[in-house]
Amino acid sequence: MKNQKTIIEVSKLRKDFYVGEITVHALKGVDLQIKEGEFVAIMGTSGSGKSTMLNILGCLDKPTDGSYILDGVSMGELSKNELAGLRNNKLGFVFQSYNLLPRTTALENVELPLYYNPNVKAKERRERGIAALEAVGLADRMHHMPNQLSGGQQQRVAIARSLVNDPVVILADEATGNLDTHTSYEIMALLQDLNEKGKTIVFVTHEADIARFMTRNVMFRDGHIIREEMVKDRLNAAEMLKNLPVEENGEE
Ligand SMILES: Nc1ncnc2c1ncn2[C@@H]1O[C@H](COP(=O)(O)OP(=O)(O)OP(=O)(O)O)[C@@H](O)[C@H]1O
Ligand SMILES: [Mg+2]
Repeated sequence: MKNQKTIIEVSKLRKDFYVGEITVHALKGVDLQIKEGEFVAIMGTSGSGKSTMLNILGCLDKPTDGSYILDGVSMGELSKNELAGLRNNKLGFVFQSYNLLPRTTALENVELPLYYNPNVKAKERRERGIAALEAVGLADRMHHMPNQLSGGQQQRVAIARSLVNDPVVILADEATGNLDTHTSYEIMALLQDLNEKGKTIVFVTHEADIARFMTRNVMFRDGHIIREEMVKDRLNAAEMLKNLPVEENGEE
């Protein structure tokens, strides 16, 4: 990794949830830095705090304690409105269940984040939506509704939507969780390509083989980071797609 700037810097991050009489300590003092151009896997067993961490990184939730600096801006000092603006301008999200609007075309889904940006007029919105769909190889499915697309294609639409605002980081939570092996590799090939073009990506997964497509693995257990390592012998998803046995070549 070159001497890149720091995009994400959290220190002593804590998150407690209060449920009735019980307090759940979901994050117990997490320190993490992520540099521009990294592709980081957040790993760990169920309940270890991965999604809680990603939601805080995505400004979808506030920490109980600790600090979070995103692209030079300290999150703790921002109002709800400012956080929403930041979320829309600096962050792209990809979820396990795609979260596309039904009865809304692929292109309209992708354009959606731009509606909140008053500087982007209709013509530019359309152009950027089309460009994002081209970037994920779905220009020919622009006018399809989500239910007219395969799971992998829906996830590519979601990735296009996450890209359309040119965010400083893409945050993905189990983005391949609903997909078969072949389609997962397609999504990983797309993300590796975006990462090679410079996009910073944080990707939650509990699957060790998926994490090997990334540049760094961060392992959570019980609300702590217990291990971090740079990935040696990184897998190349495009290469692996070529070598998949035919019977696993389900889609397309
Ligand atoms: N909104 C909430 N209210 C109360 N407790 C919560 C809430 N969200 C998460 N927790 C608790 O915090 C802990 C961490 O949850 P989290 O969702 O971050 O785990 P995870 O690592 O993403 O797990 P999984 O792999 O199953 O998605 C768990 O013990 C969970 O029960
Ligand atoms: Mg989770």
